[in-house]
Amino acid sequence: MTKLKLNRLKSVSIEDITDQAEKATAMMGQIRSAMLAPTARKSAPAFNLSQLSALCGAERGSILHRLTKGGLPPGNLNPSGSRREFTLAESREWIREYRKEQRRPQGAEAVTISVGNFKGGVTKTTTAVTLAQGLSLRGHRVLMIDVDPQGSATTLFGILPDTEVEEDQTVLPLAMGTESSIRYAIRPTYWDGIDIVAAAPLLFGAEFALPSRQSRDAEFQFWSVLDLAIDDVRSEYDVIIIDTPPALSYMTIAAFMAADGIIMPLPPNPLDFASAAQFWTLFSDVAANLKAQRGYDKHFSFMHVLLARVDSSDSASNVVRQWIGQTYAEKVLPVEIPKTAVASSSSAEFGTVYDVAKYDGNARTFKRARDAYDTFVEYVEGSIREVWDTQVEERANAAPVKPVSAVIEGVA
Ligand SMILES: Nc1ncnc2c1ncn2[C@@H]1O[C@H](COP(=O)(O)OP(=O)(O)O)[C@@H](O)[C@H]1O
Ligand SMILES: [Mg+2]
Repeated sequence: MTKLKLNRLKSVSIEDITDQAEKATAMMGQIRSAMLAPTARKSAPAFNLSQLSALCGAERGSILHRLTKGGLPPGNLNPSGSRREFTLAESREWIREYRKEQRRPQGAEAVTISVGNFKGGVTKTTTAVTLAQGLSLRGHRVLMIDVDPQGSATTLFGILPDTEVEEDQTVLPLAMGTESSIRYAIRPTYWDGIDIVAAAPLLFGAEFALPSRQSRDAEFQFWSVLDLAIDDVRSEYDVIIIDTPPALSYMTIAAFMAADGIIMPLPPNPLDFASAAQFWTLFSDVAANLKAQRGYDKHFSFMHVLLARVDSSDSASNVVRQWIGQTYAEKVLPVEIPKTAVASSSSAEFGTVYDVAKYDGNARTFKRARDAYDTFVEYVEGSIREVWDTQVEERANAAPVKPVSAVIEGVA
């Protein structure tokens, strides 16, 4: 029998750790430039005619007919003229035309969704980013806000948190009180229809800035910094998605309090189930405290639990699925995201299932994963539409304020 033997233990100094950190950062830089060459930026997928018609929810023939009428981007024919291809931006123009009825109605504004769970590795970031991409492929305009100092969502958008994110591209100035509208931090991404507010390790500073402001100023409400900051841009987006860190941090609370809806991805395994239970306890403690002590009352329009990374061959997961159903009842979305190599292998390339233009592996595996995400996005779009409808109704019911001139004319 061979004996496994470790090298002799070597003590690790702080300098060694610094050295290690530099090596890891340099490696990330290399991986990125190798992978994203030649542009050193991610590029969005393009779509052929059948893919475009599926996205538009129309027959191929209808798209072909519409093409002859002009007014929408014709895409690009390949040299032999046999295949037409549409960029993401072109496709979104088509989608917005074909899905006019499903777009945000007049009088409604961006619906804010926070993806959260105090545990790491439960697919929060994957869920947040695929949701953003999926909604944009349904014609919506999305603002993604990354408030996790680890910046995983930022990385998925091809931006390296350690070297490519400055403080003023993150929410940190909001926490410090040097900015009040989030507008300064917004930048476009490689994905048409999604803008991002990035995150980087320097965001840890918010965890000092927020409590320190709170203790200096009794009027300050740390939980409302994000909510107030997005007011300025609510009319410019259809959906705002916030990816949160795996901790009950001050910023996480601010992210939840800014949200109309919460999505909690939950893989059906016993440990994740247990930590989700802790999540609700901690969250309810915080919220109940804010209500009792500060009179802050919060209503969410929806809370969805998403069965994530489900491995149906794992018998333990069937048991936990039942626990989840009993515990969260109607909050559980009627869709399961399967555990799939598609998600993990494509995220090895810093992407998601929507980034894959053509899958090299098993087509059925890919379709199963893609269909599950599509269904998830469709359910969430349904919730978003309900919130929009309520906004429009509330606006219509609000007592109309008559301009003074009308009142005077009425009297005369
Ligand atoms: N459906 C899936 N099947 C298999 N692996 C997945 C799936 N979704 C995400 N993953 C992988 O799980 C890991 C954790 O996901 P991530 O979104 O970073 O979680 P979190 O944000 O909660 O920490 C990542 O390596 C990701 O690629
Ligand atoms: Mg994450």
